[in-house]
Amino acid sequence: MDLEIQGKTAVVTGASAGIGFAVAEELLANGTRVLIIARDEGRLADAANKLALTAAGRASDIVALAADVSKPQSAQLIVDRAIETFGGLDILVNNAGRAHAGGLLTSTDKDWEDMTGVKLTSMRRLCKAAIPHMQKRKWGRIVNMSSIGGIYPNPKLFVSHVLSGAINNLTKSLALEVAKDGILVNAIGIGAVATDNWANNMVPAVRRARADFADLSDDDVIARISAECTPVGRAGSAREIAAIAAFLSSNRNGFVTGDTIEASGGADRFM
Ligand SMILES: NC(=O)c1ccc[n+]([C@@H]2O[C@H](COP(=O)([O-])OP(=O)(O)OC[C@H]3O[C@@H](n4cnc5c(N)ncnc54)[C@H](OP(=O)(O)O)[C@@H]3O)[C@@H](O)[C@H]2O)c1
Repeated sequence: MDLEIQGKTAVVTGASAGIGFAVAEELLANGTRVLIIARDEGRLADAANKLALTAAGRASDIVALAADVSKPQSAQLIVDRAIETFGGLDILVNNAGRAHAGGLLTSTDKDWEDMTGVKLTSMRRLCKAAIPHMQKRKWGRIVNMSSIGGIYPNPKLFVSHVLSGAINNLTKSLALEVAKDGILVNAIGIGAVATDNWANNMVPAVRRARADFADLSDDDVIARISAECTPVGRAGSAREIAAIAAFLSSNRNGFVTGDTIEASGGADRFM
């Protein structure tokens, strides 16, 4: 399917790895120019080099900016760079983030503040900075990465899932505010997807709860817990989420807005 986004311009946050990298790859393959964001400069440069292969012959279509989206000044810096580099901004994919495993009683004020900064406050700021540029063109697409826990909360992931609920609410509310401007805003309620985020933030908590997994490698822990919790019997891949994000970001999507698409292999929990 031609997504009809050739020549459009996009910002993808958290694009040096995992789902964000796959989204940038998909948008580039469809002819979009992409500014990728992450904190670690080395990993970001490696990602940009790999993505340049996807954008073969269009090296200037991939640009990288090292920034921490949780910092107050980052949103304006990122949008300004997109405008300076590409002359406009059509697509924003708010993907940067991670999971925080634990319940209310085991999470600290710092956990709450850090997670809110990276997941929710950054989205609010980036949407606010990007939308005036989309309004100028009477066209825009925003995709916010949420979690299946925003719909079916799991107390083992209290902070992440409360914030996912807030992301879904932000998405719906913003979609209604800007629908008249040709801007569509959606979220993806992601289930278990095998990425570094899972290995770093979920596997240690799974291991604490499951003595029977003691002898398994991290990859095998992810495979076993995903098979147990996911009706399709496996973890999802970053490419499967990227395909949904690319459609929602495209001109082929004209009528889906304010929605949170469940992309969890049928699961209502992943731990
Ligand atoms: N994988 C899952 O099962 C799953 C499930 C539900 C929701 N999600 C959500 O999907 C999104 C992508 O997750 P993933 O699994 O692809 O994670 P990942 O593989 O760990 O990649 C995360 C990306 O975000 C960047 N990042 C993290 N914090 C950042 C910050 N403060 N500022 C800028 N960039 C930042 C990372 O690079 P640096 O560290 O260099 O900054 C990296 O590029 C996240 O928002 C996550 O919460 C994932």
